[in-house]
Amino acid sequence: MSLLILVVLLFAAPAERSRIPLGLDAYRPVPETNPLTPEKIALGRRLFFDRRLSRDGSIACATCHDPRHAFADGRAVAVGIEGRKGTRNVPTLINRVYGKSYFLDGRAPTLELQAVGPILNPIEMDMTMRDLLTRLRKDARYAVRFRSVFHRDVNQEDLAAALASYVRTILSGGSRLDRYMNGDVSALPAPAKLGLNVFRGKARCVACHAGPNLTDESFHNTGLAWRNGELLDPGRFAISNRPEDRGAFKTPTLREVSRTAPYMHDGSVATLEDVVDYYDRGGNPNPGLDPELRPLRLIAEEKQALVAFLRSLSGTIKQAR
Ligand code: HEC
Ligand code: HEC
Repeated sequence: MSLLILVVLLFAAPAERSRIPLGLDAYRPVPETNPLTPEKIALGRRLFFDRRLSRDGSIACATCHDPRHAFADGRAVAVGIEGRKGTRNVPTLINRVYGKSYFLDGRAPTLELQAVGPILNPIEMDMTMRDLLTRLRKDARYAVRFRSVFHRDVNQEDLAAALASYVRTILSGGSRLDRYMNGDVSALPAPAKLGLNVFRGKARCVACHAGPNLTDESFHNTGLAWRNGELLDPGRFAISNRPEDRGAFKTPTLREVSRTAPYMHDGSVATLEDVVDYYDRGGNPNPGLDPELRPLRLIAEEKQALVAFLRSLSGTIKQAR
């Protein structure tokens, strides 16, 4: 048996493989027009943590996507410049390199196109692109770094390319679930193992939270945008215009989920126990509710097991390599 494994290992470019945490796809899809290079990633990282990307110098990308909160912020909804409140919860940025569309409604097709959004958003960084480019060109260190990476003056396209490249390096894997799937049967404690069975079986969470990143990268109406028959956020409908997408959102990854409370697109669900109770009662009724949402009739032990399983999805967060 081991000969085949040896051959596979020898041909699988060990240097590249070793950067990907256990459990994730070794292949990271990166656009040909914006290849990852160490210098570009370092520039993107510097920009990501720089408050001068906001009009008054108060907010960096990392203010909302804080590495200490697994690249979320621990709040219900985002808080931008001058304390301006948004309507949506800050999503984690881990494993977005594997994404297919960006923002909770998928309105940005690439990370490059996504990156400009928060800079110009009046309730987030409230900057104009002209002012930002002037600010960066005037900073000798940025001017030099942009020139050495892109061989031209600071411009919007390169700014977005650098930010997107840094985001592509933020990875989480190596959780207890990954070690278990990799053959270490003792890595998952018994309750989490029962939780895995419920997740795959009775509760059918895998219908949407599937694959190595525990998301199908698709959009579902799980009822959270609906209260008493009223639609509070159109979600995917604003982009697709399909009636069944009213209140649909992108399935989020569940990796590091124990570190990113509160939950859901509006931060309305405080704890993982509350999340499980929400699914157990079959979600908020509405005309387009996903058929997977139905009363699950879980017993107390199964609910606790699901929470234990969700807690086993935290691992090591790697960035900037
Ligand atoms: C004021 C808080 C705030 C700031 C500052 C901010 N973001 Fe975000 N970010 C959010 C929120 C909220 C969303 C979800 C918004 C939505 O879906 O409408 C989001 C979404 C994203 C996504 C999409 C994630 C996904 O799962 O699709 C990426 C990538 C991202 N932000 C990167 C950045 C970068 C890069 C910066 C800096 C240029 C930045 N953000 C600045 C709050 C913020
Ligand atoms: C029909 C598809 C679907 C099924 C089935 C499903 N989910 Fe979800 N899940 C989603 C979507 C979509 C969201 C985001 C909803 C929103 O923000 O309004 C989500 C959000 C979550 C979140 C919050 C994550 C965060 O960062 O805010 C958790 C935790 C979660 N689901 C766990 C589960 C568990 C456990 C099950 C099984 C009991 C399950 N899901 C079944 C699609 C699904």
